[in-house]
Amino acid sequence: MKLDSKTLEAVIAIDGPAASGKSTVGWILANSLGYLMIDTGCMYRAVTLAALKRRVSIEDEVAISRVAQEIEIEILPPGAADDGRMYTVNVDGVDVTWELRSPDVDTNVSLVSSYKEVRSEMVRQQRAFAESGRVVMVGRDIGTVVTPDAPLKLFITASAEERARRRWEDRQAQGHTNAYEIILEDVLRRDKIDSSRQISPLRPADDAIVIDTTDRTPEEIVQHILALRVS
Ligand code: CDP
Repeated sequence: MKLDSKTLEAVIAIDGPAASGKSTVGWILANSLGYLMIDTGCMYRAVTLAALKRRVSIEDEVAISRVAQEIEIEILPPGAADDGRMYTVNVDGVDVTWELRSPDVDTNVSLVSSYKEVRSEMVRQQRAFAESGRVVMVGRDIGTVVTPDAPLKLFITASAEERARRRWEDRQAQGHTNAYEIILEDVLRRDKIDSSRQISPLRPADDAIVIDTTDRTPEEIVQHILALRVS
């Protein structure tokens, strides 16, 4: 598949399973093209965190859906923050960028994101971001549901062991001390929920380009993606 620069002027959809490297690839790609990156996972994480803070039961679909509709999620450029963040996420005006990565949110986010009303609210907000164009949107259902007309759809994957190893490294760097085995179990459990849920299950769009990142650096992957363009 060859793309000309005009078709690239819209939306690049990147999907893939947990810790496959899709956010890192999306971020480098967005920076090199001067696009905005929207990591939709952080929106489902924001709903999960808000529910945990309000002590709403994660099993309570109606109450969780209400949280999704009530909170205001902002995704902003990192600004002056020099702590390795790719973007800043505010929920109701409060910076929760790092809290979104806590093990508690990791554990509960896949259940929250399986709820129909939660998804319809998030997809509505994501489409509004996409309308402005020049955006790299990263998630699980971007190519299949959110922007099925995106001219370039990528599905980024890696072996479960490699993904768990990367997630373990991320969490260590953030000061969490979960064992590798626990993280691997969690990655496999979330893959299962994400792929088998009824609404918008994780899967590549029919016309997505599938890229395995197991033995390749994010920079190599981005070069590969950029080479799909016609200069
Ligand atoms: O960083 P990681 O790949 O572990 O997860 P994430 O991209 O932050 O997404 C967290 C969770 O949100 C996923 O496990 C999915 O359950 C859900 N999600 C989704 O359902 N649809 C999206 N477009 C993005 C994330």
